[in-house]
Amino acid sequence: MTVYISKKHPLGILSGHQTNDGSFSLHSDHFKEDFHDLEGAATEANTKFLGPAQLKTFKNIHELRVLDICVGLGYNTACILETLQKEMPLKLNWWGLELDPRPISIALKTASYRDIWTKEVLKKLESLRDNNGWETSKSKGKILLGDARQCLRSIPPEMDFHLIMLDPFSPKHCPELWSEEFLQETSKRLTPNGRIVTYCRAAAVRATLRRAGLELRSITTKIPKKKQWSQGTVAIYREDKKDLINDDLHSKTLSKMEEEHLLTRASIPYRDPTGTDKTFMIHQRRLQEQKSSNLESTSSWQRRWFLNERD
Ligand SMILES: C[S@@+](CC[C@H](N)C(=O)[O-])C[C@H]1O[C@@H](n2cnc3c(N)ncnc32)[C@H](O)[C@@H]1O
Repeated sequence: MTVYISKKHPLGILSGHQTNDGSFSLHSDHFKEDFHDLEGAATEANTKFLGPAQLKTFKNIHELRVLDICVGLGYNTACILETLQKEMPLKLNWWGLELDPRPISIALKTASYRDIWTKEVLKKLESLRDNNGWETSKSKGKILLGDARQCLRSIPPEMDFHLIMLDPFSPKHCPELWSEEFLQETSKRLTPNGRIVTYCRAAAVRATLRRAGLELRSITTKIPKKKQWSQGTVAIYREDKKDLINDDLHSKTLSKMEEEHLLTRASIPYRDPTGTDKTFMIHQRRLQEQKSSNLESTSSWQRRWFLNERD
C-alpha cells in the first residue's frame, strides 16, 4: 500500500508503504530499490543491525562511538538509541552519513513510525532533521549530509568507531558505497575491537572486508531456506583473537559454501579509485575484470550448491 509520494527532486521520487511487520518504509525511484526488505523495516533493523551489533560487548567502555552509513529513515540508529536508553546507560558519540535529508523527515511525519519510538529518541531524531545533530549530557550526534564517500573523509581523522552500520542500497544499484576503496577507508575507522555490521552477503563485499584484515561472520536466519543462506555480514577487527565471541546467537563463522563463494568471480571487488565514479563506470570496470578472470564462475558455484540466484 503506497501511503506517501514525494514531489519531484534531483534524487527522484520517494514513495512510502507499509512493510509486512506494519512498519513504514520508502521506495527510491532514483535507486530503483526499496529501503528495507519485505519482512519489515523495524524487523530488519533489529535482526540485521541491532542484534549482530552485540552492544553488550562494549558495556565496559567509557564512550560508545557509532557510525551509521546511510541513515535513511533512521531505523538502525533509533534501535541503538532505544537499547542504550533502556539497557545500557553508556555515553554515546554518534555520527551519521546520508545523501538525502528527505527520508528521516518523511518518517517523522508518519504516525506508525513515531509510534515505535520513545519521546527521548524522537527528540534526537527531530534534532537530526532540524539541526543536523543533538547534544545532551550523556550523548551527542552529528549527521553529515552529502555523498558518504566525501563525508567519511570529513570526520576528524582521530575519530574511530566501535560500531559501523553499513546500510547503502544494494551493490547492483549503489556500487560506489561497496567499493574496495570505500570499504578499506571505512574499515580503518574501526577501533581494535570494533565491528562493521551490514545486511549485505555479496562475495565482492565480503572479500574486500577480509582483505581489510577483518574476521568475517555470517548473520544467521531464523528460517533457514536455500534462498536465505545468510542475512548479512559482521566484520570484526580484533587484535586479540583469544577474545573472540563464540556464543553469538546472531552470527556464525562462514559455511563451506560461503567460503567457496569468495573464490568465485562474484568476489571480484567494485573499484572506484578516485571515489567519484558513477554507478555505470564502476560496473563496467568490474565486468571487464570478471571477463579476464581465471576464478570459478559464479554460476558453476551455484550449480554445485544447488542455488539458483546471483551473488
Ligand atoms: C537502504 S537505505 C538506508 C535505510 C536506513 N539505514 C534506515 O534505517 O532507514 C539507503 C540510504 O542510502 C542513501 N544513499 C544513497 N547513496 C548515498 C551516498 N552516495 N552517500 C550517502 N548516502 C547515500 C539513500 O539516500 C538512502 O537513504
